[in-house]
Parts: sequence; C-alpha cells; structure tokens
Amino acid sequence: MLPDRTLPVVTIHEPGMTEYTMRALRASRLRSAEIVFRTPFAAEAVSVASHKFPDMAIGAGTIVNEAQCRDAIAAGAKFIVSPGFSASIARLCEREHVDYFPGCVTPTEMMAALDFGITTVKFFPAEAYGGIGAIRALSAPFPQLSFIPTGGIGRHNMQEYLNFDRVVAIGGSFLVQEALAAWEKRA
Ligand code: 3PG
Repeated sequence: MLPDRTLPVVTIHEPGMTEYTMRALRASRLRSAEIVFRTPFAAEAVSVASHKFPDMAIGAGTIVNEAQCRDAIAAGAKFIVSPGFSASIARLCEREHVDYFPGCVTPTEMMAALDFGITTVKFFPAEAYGGIGAIRALSAPFPQLSFIPTGGIGRHNMQEYLNFDRVVAIGGSFLVQEALAAWEKRA
C-alpha cells in the first residue's frame, strides 16, 4: 500500500488541482498519496486520483468520523488515515476491507489499535510528540507495531526516521511541495 516508504500528504484547495498534483507526484517517482479531508474537494479529489492514476496507492487522510470514512471509501480510497484512533472508523474499515492507519502516540492508543488487529499506526504529530526517540522507545513494548511518522518531517530529518526498520514510511506535505516545485520548473 505504501510502496516507496514515503507518503505525500496532499491538500486539494481547488478541484482542478487534483490531476496536476498527482502528475507532479508521479513525475517525482512518488507512488502514493494521502488526500486530506480538510477541504470540501477531498472526496472528489480521491475519486479523480483513483480513477486517473490506478497505478498509485490513493488514500484519504484527516478522517475523523464514520461519515467521512464512508465518503472516502465510496470515492475509491484504498486506505484511511486519521490523526487519532477511532473505534468506529476501525470497525468500518474492517468491514470494508480497507487498511486503516490511525494516529497513535501513547501506549493506550497503541493498545486500542492492536485490539482491532491494526499493526501499522500513524505517529502524529511526530516531531511534537518526541520524534524518532519516542518511536524507538515505544517500539520496545510493541514489537507487533510499525509506524508512519508524520508531522514536522522534512528533507532535514526524514532519514533519521527511515533508518529505523520499524518505520514503514514517513508522511509529509513537504513531499508534495517539492514535487510541485520540480514539476513547475520542468514546465
Ligand atoms: C498530516 O495531516 O499528516 C499533517 O498535517 C502533515 O504534516 P506536515 O505538514 O508537517 O508534513
């Protein structure tokens, strides 16, 4: 689902930007996208991206309730990401056979995720919650868990996260900014 250890966090501010942004990501060899439900265009963007870029793993992010989760799955989201853990979203994703990466930063939240059979969690906001040091410390009592740290990650610190084998991918909006800048330069 996250082929290249990087998960671009995409915000679509106007509907016409979806295809442009996805092309820019693909040109930068990025193969996945978490399209966040923070704008009214998110569901449409997931739908457009899923249909036009079937070779990419398109998921939905900032999913904070069941209704959004339902919309995202109906639009074609192949995975769901939340800033926190939600039992109702976890249940819905399980029913729909869609991967769910909930945001977990405490042992209690990680135990809740494990109760649902979830073994990959988003660690968010990564830098504010202790960064790679916290992830290493938390990974000791949770040998079953893998992490997708997101929040405050950039070129300057991504490698320190990726060096840890329990980090399956890093997420970040910086990947989108970089891809768009490279794409604009090319054009
Ligand atoms: C997210 O929802 O995952 C974050 O807002 C991304 O954080 P970043 O902008 O610091 O990468």
